[in-house]
Amino acid sequence: MRLCINIDHIATLREARGGLEPDPVTAAHICELAGADGIVCHLREDRRHINDRDLRILRETVKTKLDLEMAATDEIVKIAIETLPELVTFVPERRQELTTEGGLDVLGHMHHLRDVIAEMHRHDIEASLFIDPVLEQVEAAAECEADKIEIHTGEYANARTDQEQMDLLEVVRTAARRAKELGMGVNAGHGLNYLNIIPFRSITEIDEVSIGHSIISRAVFVGLDRAVREMIALTR
Ligand code: PXP
Repeated sequence: MRLCINIDHIATLREARGGLEPDPVTAAHICELAGADGIVCHLREDRRHINDRDLRILRETVKTKLDLEMAATDEIVKIAIETLPELVTFVPERRQELTTEGGLDVLGHMHHLRDVIAEMHRHDIEASLFIDPVLEQVEAAAECEADKIEIHTGEYANARTDQEQMDLLEVVRTAARRAKELGMGVNAGHGLNYLNIIPFRSITEIDEVSIGHSIISRAVFVGLDRAVREMIALTR
């Protein structure tokens, strides 16, 4: 399972003081040097953490793979085309939320998503859709010609008992299998941490995980290099 690191919360810390540090660009370098397979950032409409300058410099300096999480709005689609990340992951975005709170309703927005995915393909950018592990949404993603899905693992991560965790693991596994049958790549993320990643590794259909909060939190205590290396060891 490849590991891509979401560095948004390095920028969240910077924005707490409105200054220049810590710089998410430096964080991306450290993650890559520690062996991460890619860097993820979310350019939100309100620019609450990652901003346009960060994205521009990340595009110039990331050597592995840049995954831009974004809402499918005209403004951000235009920026994606100018930036040319290797991958865009479309996510729902609500202004009041603390973080992305659920998957996209692909079924309810088929026409628009199909159009923006086609636009990405015209610019040689791969497109992924962040969805809940629901078979109808997986099938709708394939109909929109998404290259990949990213399965929202928030419910799995929030499981309160071992049984609930195992049940939700099977829900993710079933969705991942269906996506593979339909020819799509499978990423996963949200709420994954150093403990819940262990049973998660048994889902062999998952190509890549996207992890942010738990790694950046651990980095506060042990340093970013070590926090990344420890997670890599758990994902291989
Ligand atoms: N994937 C997506 C689509 C997300 O929106 C986020 C959160 O920004 C993540 C993965 C990473 O989640 P976490 O920060 O909980 O690891």
